[in-house]
Amino acid sequence: MIACVHVTLWSSRVAKFGMLSVLPKYEGFGVGGLLVKAAESYAKDLGCIRMVLDILIPVAGETPSKVQLMEWYTRLNYRFLHELPIEHAVYPEAKFLKMPCLFSVHEKKLLK
Ligand SMILES: CC(C)(COP(=O)(O)OP(=O)(O)OC[C@H]1O[C@@H](n2cnc3c(N)ncnc32)[C@H](O)[C@@H]1OP(=O)(O)O)[C@@H](O)C(=O)NCCC(=O)NCCS
Repeated sequence: MIACVHVTLWSSRVAKFGMLSVLPKYEGFGVGGLLVKAAESYAKDLGCIRMVLDILIPVAGETPSKVQLMEWYTRLNYRFLHELPIEHAVYPEAKFLKMPCLFSVHEKKLLK
């Protein structure tokens, strides 16, 4: 396995993807972009009209890689919605984060 993405349904019309990750050796070859497209296509097939994603941002400030990540999502037509404190995290694993983080929530309308 060289990459993964996890898609969940938030409602019958809204999907969310997370855990998008590509092994460093394979980054920059388009795999991440293909996985985002596959996640969107899967959600559309289930009748979803919106895709949502969270980006973990250190409370201490954005790092260059997070800025790069947000620019990439912008190029993929995701737009910033709002920030949520970590207390809103639905993942129990959030307590294992190395540093305090916020969730930067982004969304995209899924066109037919
Ligand atoms: C973000 C990630 C999934 C991209 O995968 P990828 O296969 O390299 O993506 P692609 O080859 O399709 O696209 C590369 C794009 O990723 C962008 N990118 C964003 N963050 C990056 C990072 N940390 N490292 C490398 N490229 C990154 C590049 O700017 C590039 O943009 P461009 O092609 O428009 O110039 C991959 O870098 C990764 O696994 N990062 C670590 C985990 C992570 O941050 N996941 C997202 C959580 S919200």
